[in-house]
Amino acid sequence: MTPSATPVASPPDKPASATASTATLSFDGRSYDFSIFEGSEGEKAIDFSKLRALTGLVSHDPGFANTGACKSSITYINGEQGILKYRGIPIEEIAAQASFLDVAYLIINGNLPDSPELDAFVGEITRHTMLHEDIKSFYRGFPKDAHPMAICSAVVGALAAFYPEYTDPDDTEAEGAIIRLLAKLPTIAAYSYKHSIGQPFIYPRNDLDYTSNFMHMMFSTPCEEYVVDETVADALNILFILHAEHEQNCSTSTVRLVGSSQANLFASISAGISALWGPLHGGANQKVIEMLENIESGYGSAEKFVEKAKAKGDTTRLMGFGHRVYKNYDPRAKIIKQACSDVIENLGVKSKILEIAMRLEEIALSDEYFISRNLYPNVDFYSGIIYKAIGIPVNMYTVLFAMGRLPGWIAQWKEMRNDPEFRIGRPRQIYIGPVGRHFIPVQQR
Ligand code: SDX
Repeated sequence: MTPSATPVASPPDKPASATASTATLSFDGRSYDFSIFEGSEGEKAIDFSKLRALTGLVSHDPGFANTGACKSSITYINGEQGILKYRGIPIEEIAAQASFLDVAYLIINGNLPDSPELDAFVGEITRHTMLHEDIKSFYRGFPKDAHPMAICSAVVGALAAFYPEYTDPDDTEAEGAIIRLLAKLPTIAAYSYKHSIGQPFIYPRNDLDYTSNFMHMMFSTPCEEYVVDETVADALNILFILHAEHEQNCSTSTVRLVGSSQANLFASISAGISALWGPLHGGANQKVIEMLENIESGYGSAEKFVEKAKAKGDTTRLMGFGHRVYKNYDPRAKIIKQACSDVIENLGVKSKILEIAMRLEEIALSDEYFISRNLYPNVDFYSGIIYKAIGIPVNMYTVLFAMGRLPGWIAQWKEMRNDPEFRIGRPRQIYIGPVGRHFIPVQQR
């Protein structure tokens, strides 16, 4: 290549729009043109796939805040405007009308199912909710106080041992694994709760819908059937829908990266559950309730807590606030906040922590520290209040986030494995460690 030529990185295989243009990088006396392509909602990206080959440079982007890992057709988020769409449909329309499995089908397969398709999908899932009896013996090995996220990630990974027929490295669809994961995660989750309270496991029932079956397995006993209140089943349904998918978040990126080595779907989802557990991610819903209950029990008022969250050097954060992408109100938080009030009114329960949460939001949204940083309530700020109102124990909140997010993880894994640009994920780095050192035998150290 003649140095004077302006090398152009090869344009993406299938740009979402024909209006590709270029960005020019000038470095070390040379200039390089890189293709810019546009997504179907008008987002633009520089194609850096040949950056190092052309320039010898790598990009440095801690936390990948400016890096598009892939092209995806599953979810669109506009963080500045607070927009969220699953397969092009606004979340507000979906949340008001769909069932969770209807949404799971949409997210995984790309279109809303017609009635026979939905019946077949629900029927398949219903008939696979039981766990292999040998899996139940795993639970006896866990301490009673084991966090259910530890149990769920372990048992989900172990499913690969029970269904080796769905672990073929070349299987980019893994349909059998998809049905079994969607069917069995509620059972795995409910059994982790039963184990923690020393109660016998309750088998799933095929006559109950997805959310009612989960509550049945959580709260029925051999002596008494738990009758699911419609308000409770509807609340869980809307919460699972709102947690179902959220493009390249930390746990989804983990599922993609693990799956990019051709690891099977069970192993990839197990890794996603572990990533979601962190308090900065899915674990925040548990931390929000602990924060609200601390304020309720007198460890300082809402005003004092907000001051702590703002203080330089104080690691306290207003949990459930802030978001890497949303620099406006998280549209999911808006819907959950309304659902919160509805559930508490319909169940006739009192919720001091809802009042505290609303007071915290009122203070923060009028405070320069939060305004200047575009910090708004996210999906985790109000969700735990509903979980608490319907009787879910606090250490199960992130497990319910995982149950909701499962369709999104599955869809993203499938899309990655079927991507024409599929490659194993392997980021570069810039080495800043010691140089010019030599090995010294231990006798001379
Ligand atoms: C989820 O990615 C997704 O889509 C995730 C998710 C999904 O559906 O998958 O939406 C689910 O994980 C929601 C987020 C749940 N986490 C929390 O609620 C924990 C509290 N929030 C933060 O820790 C934080 O806001 C993050 C982790 C959500 C985002 O972190 P960023 O984008 O890396 O932002 P940052 O930590 O660099 O913060 C920028 C500034 C900092 O202050 P300065 O250095 O500018 O002085 O804002 C401050 C932070 O200190 N800040 C907060 C804050 N969040 C950010 N200060 C007080 N309270 C907070 N909650």
